[in-house]
Amino acid sequence: MEALDLIKHAIKAQKNSQSQYSNFPVGCALLCDNNKIIYGCNIESAVYPSTLCAERVAIYSALSQGMQNFKAIAIVSNTRARPCGSCRQIIHEYLGNIPIYISDSKGKDYMLHHIDELLPYPFE
Ligand code: THU
Repeated sequence: MEALDLIKHAIKAQKNSQSQYSNFPVGCALLCDNNKIIYGCNIESAVYPSTLCAERVAIYSALSQGMQNFKAIAIVSNTRARPCGSCRQIIHEYLGNIPIYISDSKGKDYMLHHIDELLPYPFE
């Protein structure tokens, strides 16, 4: 699967975002090694710390459905935000050094990263 195809799925996932407090919708699409694509979006709560990022929603969902190996992840937001520190740690632990595509919500000018660059010297 091409990067832009996975990004298109992340744009679809972004539309499900529950970001009524931040107005910052994030979408994520995780490509598993069986070629299934698991969506995630940020889900916010009136109890702010209960909010969960799009990346971890997708990763926890995939793991809970039995997926264990992953090929790529796409993350979409209006500012092409890179993952937060907590998500970087979870990406390191569960996804490994797969391509991380980061795009705006139109799928233009995506960036390619790997977790060994985004999270050097991880806790493990
Ligand atoms: N957010 C994500 O979904 N992923 C990130 O990597 C950074 C932040 C969400 C959390 C919250 O719902 C909103 O963006 C603003 O922080």
